[in-house]
Amino acid sequence: MSSLVAISTPAWTIPGYLEVCDGRLRISGADAVELVHVHGSPLFVFSEARIRANIARLQAAAKQVDRPIKFCYASKANSNMSVLKVVRDTGIDIEVNSGGELYKALRVGFRPDQIIFNGTSKTDEELDEAVRAGIYSINVDSIYEIELVENAVRRARSELNSGLPPARIALRLVPEIGTRSHLGLQTALLTSKFGISSSEVLDAFRRCLQHPELIHVCGIHIHVGSQTPDVEPFAEAFKSMWNHLSAIHRETGLTLEHINLGGGIPVNYLRDRSQADELPEHERDMLGADLEPAAVLTEALRVARESARDAGAQQMLEGVTILLEPGRSVIADAGVVLTTVRNIKHRPETNDVWLLTDAGYNILLSMNNYKWYYHLISASRAAEPSNTEYKVAGPLCDSGDVYFDIERHGRLPDYRRLPLEVKPGEVLALLNSGAYSLAQMFHYNGRPLPAAVMIREDGQAEIIRRRDTYEDLLVNDVW
Ligand SMILES: Cc1ncc(COP(=O)(O)O)c(C=O)c1O
Repeated sequence: MSSLVAISTPAWTIPGYLEVCDGRLRISGADAVELVHVHGSPLFVFSEARIRANIARLQAAAKQVDRPIKFCYASKANSNMSVLKVVRDTGIDIEVNSGGELYKALRVGFRPDQIIFNGTSKTDEELDEAVRAGIYSINVDSIYEIELVENAVRRARSELNSGLPPARIALRLVPEIGTRSHLGLQTALLTSKFGISSSEVLDAFRRCLQHPELIHVCGIHIHVGSQTPDVEPFAEAFKSMWNHLSAIHRETGLTLEHINLGGGIPVNYLRDRSQADELPEHERDMLGADLEPAAVLTEALRVARESARDAGAQQMLEGVTILLEPGRSVIADAGVVLTTVRNIKHRPETNDVWLLTDAGYNILLSMNNYKWYYHLISASRAAEPSNTEYKVAGPLCDSGDVYFDIERHGRLPDYRRLPLEVKPGEVLALLNSGAYSLAQMFHYNGRPLPAAVMIREDGQAEIIRRRDTYEDLLVNDVW
C-alpha cells in the first residue's frame, strides 16, 4: 500500500524543519529514511537550526520585556557535547546538576561565570570542583548544605594556598506552588524533595551571613517544575521570591543580585491534537501547551512590579538580574527518534495488529516513567493519512515497554494511528524527543545505545554520538 493519497499538510509539520518531501519525512532538509539507511536504527536526529531558533525565541522574549535575562540552559535535558557546543555558541549560559555535568560544561568551553549548579545531594568532591572553578552560583538546597560549601572553601584555600574569593551561592526555595504537570515533574511543593521551605528562608539567609569571608549569597531560586502549561505558577513563584528578597533586604540590609525562576517553559508535544483525542482534557492541555516565554516573563514581572510599587521598592526590582533555566524548550522539539518496525503480529482474539519497533524505554525513559506522549508518525509514508490503529511496543523484555498506558490510567492513547498496512522495515518517527531521552539512556537487555546525528545548518548530517558496539557493553565490567 504505497499509493500517495494527497492530504493537506500534516499538523505536525514545521516549515523549514519538519517537512514532507516525496512522501517522506525531512528533518532540516535531510531525508529521514536515508539517515536510517546510512546510520542505522534506532537513531536520534537533532537539528542545529532548530536549537538556535528555540534559543533565539527565548532571547526575543527577553527583549519584549526589556530586561537583560541570563538564560542558563538546563543541561540535564541533553548534555551531548555537540548539543552543548551549539548552546555555548549562541552565547547563553548553563545550569548543571552534578560534577559530571559541570565537567562537561567546562570541557566544552563555558566560562565558570556562566555556570550555575543545582542539586539536592551534592558530594564534597562536587562542591570542591564548583568552588575551585569559581562558578556564578552554587544553588544550595538546604540550610545544612551552607556549611558544606563553607567547608569546601576552607579546604580549597588551605590546599591551594590561594586567596580564593568567597563562593557565590543562591538559596533554592520550595514555596508550595502547584502546577498542572505530572506530580513527578512538580518541584515547588512541600511534598517534593527540593529546596528550603518559606518558613525557614529568613533563618537560612541569616545563617549565610555568618561567614561572609567564605560565602557570598547572591541570589534566590525556584523551579516550579517541568512542562508547566500556565503562566500563573511562574508569576506566583516570582512574586514569592521577590517578597522574600525584599523581606531579607529589610531585615538584614542584604541586596540580592538575582532571582532565578528555573525552567519549565512547556513544549507542544501533541502537535496534532486529533491524534490524542481519547486522552483526558487536562492531560491534553498539559501536553499541548503553547505558552510563549514572553507571556511568562511579562506576567511574572507584572505581579512583582505591583508588589514592589506597594513596598516603594521599584528601583531594587529593576536592579535585580533575572535568570531562567530552560531545558525542554531548547532541545525537546529539536530532536526526533527514528525507529524501524522489526516485527508484526495479529491477535485474532482482540483484533489488534501489533508493531514491534527497535525503540524502547531504554532510550525514551519518560515513556515509561511518566507515560509521556511522543507523537508517532510514519517517516517512510509521511504524507499518507494516519487513521489505522495499531498497538505499538518497543523491543525490551518487559510488558511495560509499550507505547500505551499499560496501567490503564489513560495517560497515553491505547492505539497509535499510522497509515494502512504498516510492515516490518517501515521507518517511524517519534517527534519532540530531544529532551530527557539521550541523557537518560541505559543498556537494559544488553542493547547497545543508539547513534545520534546533528543536521548542521548547511544540511549535512554529522555524527554527534557513535552507536555503541557490543564491546561497549563490557567496558566497566570487571571479569
Ligand atoms: C532546577 C531545574 N531547573 C531547570 C530545569 C529544566 O526544566 P525544563 O526542562 O522543563 O525547562 C529542571 C528540570 O526539571 C530543574 O530541575
